Amino acid sequence: MISRRKLFVCAASPAVASSAQRPRFIAVSSSNGLACTAKAVETMKAGGDTLDAAIAGVNIQELDPEDTSVGYGGLPNEEGDVELDSCVMHGPTRRCGAVASIRGIKTPSKIAKLVMEQSDHVMLVGEGAARFAEAHGYRAENLLTDKARLAWLTWKESLGGDWGPGLDAPPGGAPGRALLQRIPGARPEWLAWARETAAHPPTGTITCLTLNDQGEMSGCTTTSGLAWKIPGRVGDSPIIGAGVYCDQDVGAAGSTGRGEENIRICGAHAVVENMRRGMEPAEACLDALRRAARNYDDDRGWLSGIGLSFYALRKDGAYAGASLWDRARNDSRRRSRFTVNDGGESRSEDSVALFER
Ligand code: GLY
Repeated sequence: MISRRKLFVCAASPAVASSAQRPRFIAVSSSNGLACTAKAVETMKAGGDTLDAAIAGVNIQELDPEDTSVGYGGLPNEEGDVELDSCVMHGPTRRCGAVASIRGIKTPSKIAKLVMEQSDHVMLVGEGAARFAEAHGYRAENLLTDKARLAWLTWKESLGGDWGPGLDAPPGGAPGRALLQRIPGARPEWLAWARETAAHPPTGTITCLTLNDQGEMSGCTTTSGLAWKIPGRVGDSPIIGAGVYCDQDVGAAGSTGRGEENIRICGAHAVVENMRRGMEPAEACLDALRRAARNYDDDRGWLSGIGLSFYALRKDGAYAGASLWDRARNDSRRRSRFTVNDGGESRSEDSVALFER
């Protein structure tokens, strides 16, 4: 039986830059965006376009083999193939592009921009997207790192099927040790992480929103999506209006977390439309989160397993991050946060939250 419960809104004030104090360049990102936002602002300061800045920022995560939720090194689908999703929106030209379920290309954000600029389409998927990238000089590579392979095989073996040591295996072997021997690059200290990741597959993702001194804006989101997904599963990250939305007249928004919940509410679009109607960025994000919660009749029990966050950057430089929950599900010490750079050091700020754990 679904029960209706009272929504809780954490007391936190949205970050607002008045026009008098508005920074000349600002980048807002998900919690994993310290390096990303610094790179984005550096790119804009050097005269780079706002979309190029956002892409340069997220490229750091996409190319980092240690980041297991974005680009190269991302956790694969249930068959061990890494499938990546991304979309971009360019405020000044009001154009957008996206790729979904693309394999073999480390930087899907760049291919999303390529779709925007070099095709008459908005979105390409799967093999067609990869072929389009290769036609423009990108080389397909194996994106499955040793670390991601270890986690994937640990997950496969945890399912209790035919994968892993059989009935005839000699007794006494430590679980996971055989896997380490079969993956030459794997390190023993990865095993605990692999078991945790197999049991609780993460949804990572990075969003970057940018604003320059001309008031121009852009946004980009990129991800390897849900680990162990059904091949072909597409989350919110490549969906214009869900993973990212940018309206040069109003502002930009992006999202991370469980994509299915975001797609249901077209979250990034909802956030921008809320700002258009006059809501402050934090309230605009919280309103979108309320819509996601409403789809579960606000039942906190059902919602407790869902992570969902929005990030908003308004044209006047006001910004906010907001999350469904104030803390991570599997680590109550970890506060929901987002990242900002407005010309100096990148910093992490607390998100406002719809519910307290
Ligand atoms: N938000 C990333 C995904 O659900 O794929």
